[in-house]
Amino acid sequence: MASPCNVAVLISGNGSNLQALIDASSESNYRVAAVISNNPEAYGLQRAAAASIPTVTINHRDFTDRVSFDRALIAALENLHPDLIVLAGFMRILSAEFVQHFAHRIVNIHPSLLPRYPGTNTHQRAIDAGDSEHGASVHFVTEELDGGPVIAHAVVAIQPGDTAATLQQRVHAEEHKIYPQVVSLFASGRLRMRDGKAWLDSDELPANGIRLE
Ligand code: GRF
Repeated sequence: MASPCNVAVLISGNGSNLQALIDASSESNYRVAAVISNNPEAYGLQRAAAASIPTVTINHRDFTDRVSFDRALIAALENLHPDLIVLAGFMRILSAEFVQHFAHRIVNIHPSLLPRYPGTNTHQRAIDAGDSEHGASVHFVTEELDGGPVIAHAVVAIQPGDTAATLQQRVHAEEHKIYPQVVSLFASGRLRMRDGKAWLDSDELPANGIRLE
């Protein structure tokens, strides 16, 4: 891969993970080459502009269906030639066509220890289940929502008295640490998706991925 690795980050909102990726990139082997948002109001667009990173807004409301929105997204990304597509709080479900188009080159961060709690409301679900541990996962994206092979977990202990809000805060802080590490592993060529699994160097990663902090 040409160095540094060109990363396109897809966002829908605040973009604190985008910020963590931008901040870490100056001393890393990847660069955030572009930021795409489906939401024109996303604060992350301002973060990108402040870092002089080109932005593209493709408002899903301008499209009648998911397939046509995804085709516009594919076209925009094709212009940018990213080595890796990083979903960072991107709140649209991607079509099979999109996932296949960029197969093995899309990662996502999710606020739970996958495979536990795909979908939404993860912090409350972990508390309600009486779990002692919770956290965040980075995984390769497949057609199954939050179902692709896990690359890394960051684990957070659930304390007595935790609420969804307090837990979310601690999980978010962990996300900011692990996402740049995973992108850097991909950029170095050490991390790959093959045969539906995540691989680090010559090792197939276990179902929980690697533990990062
Ligand atoms: C994070 O909690 C991430 O796990 C989830 O969306 C949130 C994005 O937060 N996919 P931010 O926009 O990066 O602050």
